Amino acid sequence: MSATVIVDALWGDSGKGKTCAHLARRDDPELTVRAGIGTNAGASVTLDDGTLLKARQLPTGWVNPGTRAAVGPGVLVDPRVLADEVERFGLAGRAFVDGRCAVITPEHIEAERADEHLSRTVGSTCTGNGRARADLVMRRARQARDVPELAPYVIDVPREVNKVAAGPGNVIVEGSQGTMLSLTYSPDYPYTTSGNCTTAAALDDVGLNWRHLTDVIMVVKAMPTRVGEGPLPHELAPGEAEARGIAEYGVNTGRPRRKAERLDFGLLEYAAMLNGPTQIALTFCDHLDPEMRGRRDARGITGKVRELMSRVEEATGAPVTLLDTGPGLSDVIDLS
Ligand code: IMP
Repeated sequence: MSATVIVDALWGDSGKGKTCAHLARRDDPELTVRAGIGTNAGASVTLDDGTLLKARQLPTGWVNPGTRAAVGPGVLVDPRVLADEVERFGLAGRAFVDGRCAVITPEHIEAERADEHLSRTVGSTCTGNGRARADLVMRRARQARDVPELAPYVIDVPREVNKVAAGPGNVIVEGSQGTMLSLTYSPDYPYTTSGNCTTAAALDDVGLNWRHLTDVIMVVKAMPTRVGEGPLPHELAPGEAEARGIAEYGVNTGRPRRKAERLDFGLLEYAAMLNGPTQIALTFCDHLDPEMRGRRDARGITGKVRELMSRVEEATGAPVTLLDTGPGLSDVIDLS
């Protein structure tokens, strides 16, 4: 009987998908639910056999065979992306969307691509999410229940989430993007996404009653990244990440991610204030310290990472319970 929300402290791309997949394999939840904006967020998971899975609609907890995957009513659905993931991952009968999810159309995507403010100034992913959300707010959007091809997937997600959380089972809510990309909380508007990406927003996106919430895992990327425009404190010079062999590229767009040398503890403290984490997942530790690569045992934590753990715990008031040490799903040190 538990409900865990996974949120990102900064600008996303921190391994929420991998964290969700790890927790699902460890805890065998009945249900994982995607919160967040919609298909602008890419998640990738590398299975133990080396298979790379890329998703942007469904939460990744389905990698555990007994776990169903759903999308909350506050999340935008692109029927083409959903159908592709259901087919690629073999999820027919295990994947669901709420009937009230607003739907992204090809016109939304075209309109974003043609919009210079979004594509150039903001650096949007141009996946139609902002436009679809605008239609939702203006009460012009189609909802999932209006789209015949979505009929096999439609359920009442809040009812299911609360039923599971109130019973003997577990729910994991996978947030998307990052707190500092939040529409109303980011210090960097208009360099934001089209909604908030906090714990409270995630609860609202999936309709989970806060009384069921047992844990908030805030994911903190040891060397934060940002795609698109907007300030990135302690940003590495162009070419530096490549030179160190730690360059990253967007799952959705393939764009290079701008990368920071180190965390900004003021921002981290603010993110903790907004999200109320009970645990921290510290990810990409192997980028900070290559010696951490692939380590799976607490005895392998290096001095450099231990020092960062203490500082992160001090800034957030929550213990680091998970360390990510490489791209593979099993490249983690689980301290919980
Ligand atoms: P949009 O939400 O696609 O319009 O993008 C707005 C801003 O949020 C841009 O700077 C994007 O790069 C950023 N953004 C949106 N989704 C993600 C994500 O999943 N990870 C990182 N940045 C994102």
